[in-house]
Amino acid sequence: MRGLAPPAEVQVLYWMHQARRDLVVQAPRRRGIVAGTFALRSPVRPNPIASSMVELVGVEGTTVLVRGMDCVDGTPLIDLKPAPSKPDAPGHS
Ligand SMILES: C[S@@+](CC[C@H](N)C(=O)[O-])C[C@H]1O[C@@H](n2cnc3c(N)ncnc32)[C@H](O)[C@@H]1O
Repeated sequence: MRGLAPPAEVQVLYWMHQARRDLVVQAPRRRGIVAGTFALRSPVRPNPIASSMVELVGVEGTTVLVRGMDCVDGTPLIDLKPAPSKPDAPGHS
């Protein structure tokens, strides 16, 4: 895991394997409206890829420890990326 060390923020992409994938409209309780799936950040979606920005706490061998994930135990990890740089940061692409 060369180059991955705290303090850092990382983006975790994961697969919400227990989520329903068959709703095209939903009525999230918090918003009190009916909306199309693609107008929402609901975990219920045809392609259940989720993205969370979290704090990197440590790296122990091949295990990456983060704080701030909101996912079910056993959720498959898709990818890890460094937090996107700010648009005006040197080397931004
Ligand atoms: C709203 S999603 C996070 C979405 C992410 N921040 C995004 O915008 O892509 C977080 C919720 O997804 C649900 N969730 C997390 N992991 C899941 C999994 N493996 N299968 C099904 N639902 C999951 C939990 O209810 C959790 O509170």
